[in-house]
Amino acid sequence: MAKVEQVSGIFDTILVLDFGSQYSHLITRRLREFNIYAEMLPCTQKISELSWKPKGVILSGGPYSVYAEDAPHVDHAVFDLNVPILGICYGMQELAWINGKQVARGEKREYGPATLNVLDKADALFNGVDHSIVWMSHGDKLNGLPTGFKTIATSDNSPYCGIAHESKPIYGIQFHPEVTHSTLGKTLLKNFAVDICKTEQNWTMENFIDTEIKRIRELVGPTAEVIGAVSGGVDSTVASKLMTEAIGDRFHAILVDNGVLRLNEAENVKKTLVEGLGINLTVVDAADEFLSNLKGVTDPEKKRKIIGNTFIHVFEREAEKIKPKDGQEIQYLLQGTLYPDVIESISFKGPSQTIKTHHNVGGLLENMKLKLIEPLRELFKDEVRHLGELLGISHELVWRHPFPGPGIAIRVLGEVTKKQVEIARKADYIYIEEIRKAGLYDKIAQAFACLLPVKSVGVMGDQRTYEQVIALRAIETTDFMTADWYPFEHAFLKKVASRIVNEVDGVARVTYDITSKPPATVEWE
Ligand code: XMP
Repeated sequence: MAKVEQVSGIFDTILVLDFGSQYSHLITRRLREFNIYAEMLPCTQKISELSWKPKGVILSGGPYSVYAEDAPHVDHAVFDLNVPILGICYGMQELAWINGKQVARGEKREYGPATLNVLDKADALFNGVDHSIVWMSHGDKLNGLPTGFKTIATSDNSPYCGIAHESKPIYGIQFHPEVTHSTLGKTLLKNFAVDICKTEQNWTMENFIDTEIKRIRELVGPTAEVIGAVSGGVDSTVASKLMTEAIGDRFHAILVDNGVLRLNEAENVKKTLVEGLGINLTVVDAADEFLSNLKGVTDPEKKRKIIGNTFIHVFEREAEKIKPKDGQEIQYLLQGTLYPDVIESISFKGPSQTIKTHHNVGGLLENMKLKLIEPLRELFKDEVRHLGELLGISHELVWRHPFPGPGIAIRVLGEVTKKQVEIARKADYIYIEEIRKAGLYDKIAQAFACLLPVKSVGVMGDQRTYEQVIALRAIETTDFMTADWYPFEHAFLKKVASRIVNEVDGVARVTYDITSKPPATVEWE
């Protein structure tokens, strides 16, 4: 098979070795904002196992003490790469530990802002950042200079705020330049990557499209076929469009209508993907099968499992029916995995418990004897959106709110029946339509309607009604880990409530969810 280079072997790359700080991924993020490709790997990465050579290495912060018995340490071969190294917080303490063990517990933790005082104004690392505010978050500190190093910056509480090797481009800083509280931290990271490591700033989605299409073609070869599920969301659409650009109709997209999609969703996705983007798509109507498997089930996790398993079953069955021309076999399964999922799964602490079950395509891969192809695995969400726009995908689709795999099944609380799904769907449609009309859609991270399993008394005309309740949710968030509810104008809520009660049979009352996450989750189930 053709040799397929990784992105890190094609673009100049800064290697970020992660020691477990909650901020580590931000280092990668910041560098990419300057069109510098950066890749994060666990701090335990064996340097000899890298198939590419980084232009520079950053050792991240971390929650450990370098002198503790079980502390993680960097592979010393990193120094034989002879590329610039920057240690941040724990990363700096690691450098000090390796070069003379000058690390000890501080009398008190230093947490919060400090003013940077640069001593060596000629040093490229601090170019343009003198006297800026830097963010400290450490319990251990250097209690002396490591062998061969000099001090290049101080702060009121940190006499070794910045250190540099006397003769090699090895640096340590006590603060976190990757967090926005460090006002010029981004500049410092750019100084390191561009001026010290001489990294080319060519990481753009325009460049990525070309290299990625080439990479997909090399990987798949001239005849093999690829299959993939699409949902109508941005990730699967961008991944599918990229595959279509690379191998045309040898990519087969399947949309499984599971009966719990949004109103008119299957038809709309078909129109967009087939007519708009030229993707070779098959739509499978499996609504009855899903709803029949969900009969009588009220537990949210059981709903998720049933939907996941039914999906695998339906997908495999449909894949069987796709008979590529020339007797070729389908060999690959496309998955729209993004970089944050990759980061989460390669942590040296082991995969996090929070990886959602919908990312697990293991069943399909094993049963169908397929190999995985993940063209978006190096990209953050905003990069995927940018890529989508460059590939000609509409703004509306590219900026669509996320929609969970189990769909409306986890927004119909209690048992999922066709009738209940219909009610939730219509209410959701009206709500989103009003949000769009009010010009609020792009200001909200996610909005949806839930159908509650309670009945409530109402009065319509002269009639007493006894019908169900719709709860509306809208959140503001950047990472979906924490979220706040969106402060709609009262007039807006009034209009939506009135439309839903008047236009959707079976609803007597509408409420608005004003709970943040935590303690609540985004979804109700
Ligand atoms: P929670 O409810 O966990 O939601 O605060 C955070 C984000 O994840 C989405 N979500 C899911 N997505 N399958 C998915 O594909 C699921 O089972 C699932 N549960 C929650 C949710 O919509 C929100 O964007």
